[in-house]
Amino acid sequence: MRILVVAAHPHIEQSRVNQCWLAELRRSPDTITVHELYKTYPDFAIDAQKEQDLVAQHDRIVLQFPIQWYSVPALLKMWLDDVFTTTWLFGAGGRAVAGKELVLAMSIGGDESTYQSGGIIGYTISELVRPLQVFSNQIGMTFLPHYKLYGAMKATDFQINNSASSYVQHISSPDLNPIIARKRMFAEMSRA
Ligand SMILES: Cc1cc2nc3c(=O)[nH]c(=O)nc-3n(C[C@H](O)[C@H](O)[C@H](O)COP(=O)(O)O)c2cc1C
Repeated sequence: MRILVVAAHPHIEQSRVNQCWLAELRRSPDTITVHELYKTYPDFAIDAQKEQDLVAQHDRIVLQFPIQWYSVPALLKMWLDDVFTTTWLFGAGGRAVAGKELVLAMSIGGDESTYQSGGIIGYTISELVRPLQVFSNQIGMTFLPHYKLYGAMKATDFQINNSASSYVQHISSPDLNPIIARKRMFAEMSRA
């Protein structure tokens, strides 16, 4: 399985979490491609064709970003708008990304307890990223469970380092896809 991590942090040099995650990814197998949007396009001039080719070469696409104002950083939104054009998705070549998987990996400043109904923020992360889930569904991708680190601003180095290794395990697992996990479970049950 070829994995593409599209990382979008507007100030990666000031980051603790996303920087640590990127370092861990770079130590990982070469089946993971790391693509840093703000480094590649500091001028926001996205080369859509090049990005489409990159997406086409991978099976699982991971969007890694810090939550900013309950949403994605600006360049990541622009990347989605510029790259996933209807001509590419549904044009002559058919459904360009159908069957691929989409995973979100988010660092989140607030505590988990604030992200629930009745909490200070009042909505869960799953509710807030619903537009990305609809997007994924509409273009034929399989939306998989996200990876999250809450309380990112006050996390200790130990917590951040731990989160980096579980992040890589999370996005690398074939069982992240519930259909594959369920098939494996039934196969094991029928062997027992
Ligand atoms: C402009 C901006 C907006 C932010 N908005 C949110 C937000 O809506 N919710 C939240 O929990 N944290 C928010 N944060 C905190 C970031 O999510 C947090 O600093 C980041 O995930 C930490 O990761 P890093 O160490 O890689 O920068 C915001 C931070 C900035 C700079």
